[in-house]
Amino acid sequence: MKTQVVIIGAGPSGLLLGQLLARSGIANTVIEQRSADYVLGRIRAGVLEQTTVDLLQTAGVAERMHQEGLPHVGVELCFGGQRHRIDLLGLTGKRVMVYGQTEVTRDLMDARAAAGLPTVYEADEVVVSGFDSATPSVSYLKDGVRVELQADFIAGCDGFHGVCRASVPAAAITLHEKVYPFGWLGVLADVPPVSDELIYVQHERGFALCSQRSKVRSRYYVQCALDDDVAAWSDDAFWAELKRRLPTETAAQLVTGASIEKSIAPLRSFVAEPLRFGSMFLVGDAGHIVPPTGAKGLNLAASDVAYLWQAISGWYAGSKAEIDHYSSRALARIWKAERFSWWMTSLMHKFPDSGSFGHKMQMAEMDYLFSSQAAMTVLAENYVGLPLV
Ligand code: APR
Ligand code: PHB
Repeated sequence: MKTQVVIIGAGPSGLLLGQLLARSGIANTVIEQRSADYVLGRIRAGVLEQTTVDLLQTAGVAERMHQEGLPHVGVELCFGGQRHRIDLLGLTGKRVMVYGQTEVTRDLMDARAAAGLPTVYEADEVVVSGFDSATPSVSYLKDGVRVELQADFIAGCDGFHGVCRASVPAAAITLHEKVYPFGWLGVLADVPPVSDELIYVQHERGFALCSQRSKVRSRYYVQCALDDDVAAWSDDAFWAELKRRLPTETAAQLVTGASIEKSIAPLRSFVAEPLRFGSMFLVGDAGHIVPPTGAKGLNLAASDVAYLWQAISGWYAGSKAEIDHYSSRALARIWKAERFSWWMTSLMHKFPDSGSFGHKMQMAEMDYLFSSQAAMTVLAENYVGLPLV
């Protein structure tokens, strides 16, 4: 069997790329190792930059997002028990869209099914080969039968633990990584958000975040130890810890309820270089990870997709050179988002080993941030997303 582009992974990267390529008339097959329900069960961040919103629009999957998503024009940072607002719209002229990654993925899956585009779920033992040649191929086991698919290109949209990056010879790739000494314990609950806008909280007990999915569904996080057992965190213990980290008046307004999802995620910064290996490209979490502070993960995946879509559609339209720039173009934007996510993580969390000097530096930085229009603008322009160049 043959297609033009084989896409490994049906997360947001793979599905969005598939949708855009199909709109440009480029045949593609998505190969996913899990079931669609499993993919939709993963709860991740939910803040979309305007460039991501625009790309979803171009892909023809923005209708429900525009109906149900919540445009936000500001965000709050809390330290020393005081809430401070960053006026995103006033400082940058831009807003962000609060709409969960699960919903983005569902919209993309529905659009792919409606367009009748080929997708193989529950594909086992996926193997990528020949990407150092012009005739790469992918094979997988489906219902016990091995299937081989030839293509012009392979898009590795298979996340951090995927097979594509792992198939590259070690000498051909450089990995940059920072692992943080804590995790985020997240709870999803059908309760109204405590505030109209997101609140990122720096507190002596550790970071907290008040986020939301809708007017009736909230997402809250508290910084926790990496070896914490999620089963040991009752709902009551979670809400009590969150309240301790919020200003008294905010804690008093918090509506609590039964959790519908609860999980612990480690925090990591990670970049692989380059992102192209012959006819195979790494896209999204397969090539890089950001800690969730700042909500850049999905947005970076979307910008990678935009660059690769342009490069591949350019190649089929006769401008073969664009494909040579995918890796450097994507990495330039990735490193800036890595910097921002690392900076915001460093500013907002309690670090076990940084001592009183580290803590004073965080305080001084916060104090400066809220006294300087320039500093607030730097935060705001990164938060709403840097341009696609
Ligand atoms: N074969 C086929 N599919 C695979 C394989 C494999 N060997 N390994 C992993 N996959 C699938 C996973 O099951 C998953 O559905 O690839 C998909 C990758 O999806 P994501 O991990 O969601 O990665 P991506 O699409 O790049 O989305 C990035 O996810 O983690 C967040 O913050 C991140 O929001 C960002 C987004
Ligand atoms: C979320 O809503 O899950 C969320 C929002 C903002 C972040 C991280 C996660 O920075």
